[in-house]
Amino acid sequence: MKILSDPSAIEAIKKTKNIAVLTGAGISAESGIPTFRGENGLWTKLSPEELASFESFYQNTAVVMEWYKHRQEVIMKCKPNPGHYALNELSRLPEHFDLITQNIDGLHQRAGSRDVIELHGNLLENYCICCGQKYSVEEFDEVFKNAINHVPRCHCGGLIRPNVVWFGEALPRENLDMAYNAAIHADVFLSVGTSGQVRPAADLPILAKQGGAFLIEINTQKTVLSGEADLILQGNSGEILPQLVEDIKTLLPKA
Ligand code: OAD
Repeated sequence: MKILSDPSAIEAIKKTKNIAVLTGAGISAESGIPTFRGENGLWTKLSPEELASFESFYQNTAVVMEWYKHRQEVIMKCKPNPGHYALNELSRLPEHFDLITQNIDGLHQRAGSRDVIELHGNLLENYCICCGQKYSVEEFDEVFKNAINHVPRCHCGGLIRPNVVWFGEALPRENLDMAYNAAIHADVFLSVGTSGQVRPAADLPILAKQGGAFLIEINTQKTVLSGEADLILQGNSGEILPQLVEDIKTLLPKA
């Protein structure tokens, strides 16, 4: 065993059919993408109200869209880290696996994960708020280059926004339902790199636990969810997840 020594964790994993995972910004920290809270977190320097709400987008479109354009560029330059790859490998071990993420960076998909349940959207997608036309990163680049006063507009004249959930907006209903379903049916639930401060995502580990799941938290620090966890693995997810997956492989031969 590389990282698992806790007998109850070993027993729970041996019996598991369904594993569900919730990831947050922490899993992408080792890829070079800043988290939101904690030391150097985005929200310690910038105001979410000024950058992550529909009102601010509507009133200060150029400022908001330049910030999102910058983040798109940062994300495009980053690569998945061993934590993302380990979760892709984990997906093949139990009978059923669900990967739920609050992240909008698409790094799970770039590490090969399929059917990722995205709760907060995807920064690499954009759409027109009037006609709904979708714009890929490349298409959006073109529009942005030619935008008058940095205000990107669709051919219909409508404003183009990133496909991310802003404060005060509802999460995509279908994805949220899939996430609830995954949490309720999980035998083992991993909460990875999330501070657990944003609902409804933060409800998922609790729901899983109430449904009988063995809850494992992987984080560099204690969080508001730590008290609920059956096992806490403290450290960088890019180091812990590959070791954990190696252990799970020995306990749970490929389904
Ligand atoms: P946070 O920034 O709130 O929390 C990141 C968590 O990752 C913290 O608990 C850190 O201790 C932990 N962490 C940092 N580096 C890590 C590492 N290498 N390995 C493991 N853990 C590490 O991010 P989220 O919980 O994802 O919402 O934030 C939730 C939502 O708040 C985001 O999706 C975003 C934000 O406002 C929207 O944009 C809608």
